Amino acid sequence: MAVALLDLKRQHAAIGADIRARMDAVIQDQSFIMGETVAAFEAAVAELLGVEHAIGVASGTDALLLPLKALGLEPGDEVITTPFTFFATAGAIHNAGGRAVFVDIEPDTFNLDPSRVDAAITPRTRAIVPVHLFGQMADVRPLRETADRHGLFLLEDAAQAIGARQRVGDGWITTGHLGDCAAFSFFPSKNLGAFGDGGMVVTNDAALAERLRRLRVHGGLKMYHHEEVGTNSRLDALQAAVLHAKLPHLEGWSAARRRNAAWYDDRFADLERAGRVRRPVVRDGNESIYNQYTLRVEARDRLREHLSTRGIGNAVYYPLPLHLQPCFAYLGYGEGEFPQSERAAQEVVSLPVFPELCPAELEEVAIAVEEFYG
Ligand SMILES: Cc1ncc(COP(=O)(O)O)c(C=O)c1O
Repeated sequence: MAVALLDLKRQHAAIGADIRARMDAVIQDQSFIMGETVAAFEAAVAELLGVEHAIGVASGTDALLLPLKALGLEPGDEVITTPFTFFATAGAIHNAGGRAVFVDIEPDTFNLDPSRVDAAITPRTRAIVPVHLFGQMADVRPLRETADRHGLFLLEDAAQAIGARQRVGDGWITTGHLGDCAAFSFFPSKNLGAFGDGGMVVTNDAALAERLRRLRVHGGLKMYHHEEVGTNSRLDALQAAVLHAKLPHLEGWSAARRRNAAWYDDRFADLERAGRVRRPVVRDGNESIYNQYTLRVEARDRLREHLSTRGIGNAVYYPLPLHLQPCFAYLGYGEGEFPQSERAAQEVVSLPVFPELCPAELEEVAIAVEEFYG
């Protein structure tokens, strides 16, 4: 039996009627740009996350780019981030006029290692951009302390982590609580995915929210009056309608992903004891939304071939760390500089973990992995 890495058709079969109803309302209204549909979805996300402001934008990439633009980076200004992430994190830093400064990851969580950040700070550092990779929050508390100590902006790349939580004392924090703002992506494969591109920034800073609202409409909130040069980065009303219909299901979907992950964790315990695989590590006090279930494995590329032959969906996020990307050669990094990221890039493989997977499919995936390791 083939098992897809992600099968969005099942999600659509379950809730397509709700989505169509919300889309139809927008179509009947012929109100496609901004307006009540976008505002209502922004308010719903703000409420869900417990933040003051949510600003819909055209993509997760823009949700990173616009806050960085708002910082007014000067040539040579530095922004610290991880090299083990999707390209957009560092691409946005570059496109906002900054210089990406990479800091290696923690080997267990794949997230930016806060203990290495201080050593990377210089008089030119302006911001830190941790990424909540694969759905697990990075260790934001020490990063907040470091940012405060040095007067830096903290932008959370939460593209893969909407709804992920972290226990602090007796309560929980989520993305956007400790950062100056957090950026989300609604790319279709995310836990909350649109029918195309979409993104959102959340923040508790009213002045920043106002600035972002302006930047997404060419820098002017009053029609044809522009205080600054922004861009066109609006969230489409149709996408907001789709996302709003999906939003009430997000928590249940993420819980189902956690159940699937727990099933794999249990099943792969023996292979881990045998030293063949390492299961994903979720730190105590973290609740991951498992946008990906990512193993570290022996003979990764051969395992992938085996899985693909068996029809088992799999993927490598990410095969080449950003400090080794040709476009960032100008930053002057070389191979061996970030050993944890480079090693992760060699060892990781992500398996199907989407909410609608059935027990027989989980079994099929597990058997295929076990078969490979004999
Ligand atoms: C970590 C990370 N940052 C940024 C982005 C960019 O989001 P988008 O594709 O919506 O522009 C993504 C999307 O894949 C991502 O995974």
